[in-house]
Amino acid sequence: MRLWQNPASPFARKVRIVVRELGLTARVEEIATAVSPVSPNADLAKQNPLVKIPALLTDTGEVLYDSSVICEYLDAQHGGARIIPDGAARWNALRLQSLCDGILDAAVLCRYESAVRPEALRWNDWVQGQFTKIRNGLDTLAAESLSWGTQFGIGQIGAACVLGYLDFRFAEENWREPRPQLAQWYESVKARASVAATVPS
Ligand code: BEZ
Repeated sequence: MRLWQNPASPFARKVRIVVRELGLTARVEEIATAVSPVSPNADLAKQNPLVKIPALLTDTGEVLYDSSVICEYLDAQHGGARIIPDGAARWNALRLQSLCDGILDAAVLCRYESAVRPEALRWNDWVQGQFTKIRNGLDTLAAESLSWGTQFGIGQIGAACVLGYLDFRFAEENWREPRPQLAQWYESVKARASVAATVPS
């Protein structure tokens, strides 16, 4: 399989952590891919019309996107413990993944706003609206993290990507200070091989 990814992308990181957690590293070639919202990568556009990473070429020649579809596909490619559970627990795990994806959507939009959009066109109220989503989402993660224990399924993988991305791009947000329980949980997963090997850069 081939995975188009970028080491700064939190959505690509989610898939890269899943690859490692599932023991699939030998089967997935990671291709570092430049992405920009204003000058689309023509090579990537041949794989994904949305010109977004991550995108995965399967061994049977199909290209899959987005990150949640790729994670689900990878989870079906191995015989070990599932990162997306079956049965009643499935829906909560998928909801938690969606919460993390939503926080990341808002954070990446804010990143583009400050790094790409010309200063004269920036709209502070809109940015603050995105930050409200991020902070509300973090509060929910903080409350839920109290019951996670040592679980590290798709929801917790998403949470690790959220917190790693905020440290990488929005360190000044200081998300830990009002949420010490979430900070404690993050400390407990940072040393995992899959998380340590995929720190954004
Ligand atoms: C970033 O540089 O923050 C970034 C790169 C790729 C996708 C999303 C975010």
